[in-house]
Amino acid sequence: MRQELDKFESEIFGFTVGRIDEVRSFELTPGTIDGLKRNYDMTLARVSLTDHSVIRGLTRGDFELMDVGLTFERSTKVKDLNTGELDIEVGVAHPGDVEQLVPMLVDPWGGRYDEDEHLDRDKVAKLRLEWLKNDLAGRTKYCFIAVDTLKPWTKGGFKIMAYVLAKDDGEIDLVGTLPDYRGQGIASDLLLSSLHEMRQRDGVEQATVRTHATNYAACRLYESTGFKLHKSDATFRLAGPRFERRPL
Ligand SMILES: CC(C)(COP(=O)(O)OP(=O)(O)OC[C@H]1O[C@@H](n2cnc3c(N)ncnc32)[C@H](O)[C@@H]1OP(=O)(O)O)[C@@H](O)C(=O)NCCC(=O)NCCS
Repeated sequence: MRQELDKFESEIFGFTVGRIDEVRSFELTPGTIDGLKRNYDMTLARVSLTDHSVIRGLTRGDFELMDVGLTFERSTKVKDLNTGELDIEVGVAHPGDVEQLVPMLVDPWGGRYDEDEHLDRDKVAKLRLEWLKNDLAGRTKYCFIAVDTLKPWTKGGFKIMAYVLAKDDGEIDLVGTLPDYRGQGIASDLLLSSLHEMRQRDGVEQATVRTHATNYAACRLYESTGFKLHKSDATFRLAGPRFERRPL
């Protein structure tokens, strides 16, 4: 499984992907850029939005902006846990729920690949499915769900209305509410219950969540549940000749 995850991280649609975690502008000489183009079909670099000199270096070196991310954080101490007002049940997803969850999770949510004109939408959906299966199998520790107790699911249990996926260190991977159930406070209640649960079960003290700056609903959700903006970042991409020449 580990090998599969590694391969997945370094390959997208058959293109090799290089990832730069730390970059200093002076390292981005024309020689370095050419080397990256030769070695990778695309190179991704995520940098802090406050690193102006690095951003200047990246854009001068042919990198293009893919997305801007905001990371929010808050303590998992929840004072007023108020799920009583809504007729929902919050619980931990069991393996049988994953079958119901995955199709909910593959809907586009404005990620960088959804908006990429080089990429075919069906292939993006398949990539996300793959990523989610890996994530649910290998990296996600918590999977909290809110179910509609008035609607049994055909294969047992109840219909899932919303989900929260998180890692063991309190990093929240995904939050979502099915379109029909949005705007009723369900994600807010589920999110707060999830923080409470992580603290109660394992003593997780702090939660973080990253979303795209353009995802207004998600930003509102995090702000209205007491998260504070912690940092912002930007992801840039350098396209190698194979990726540029052969749009999918
Ligand atoms: C983001 C999302 C989870 C919100 O779910 P929800 O159940 O509708 O959220 P809530 O009803 O609890 O609303 C939370 C807050 O966000 C606000 N909000 C929710 N949707 C909004 C929208 N489309 N536009 C503006 N504000 C919105 C609500 O008004 C509320 O703020 P308030 O408490 O100040 O009134 C849902 O829109 C969704 O599933 N989006 C697609 C998946 C996604 O983008 N996930 C986040 C990134 S991982």
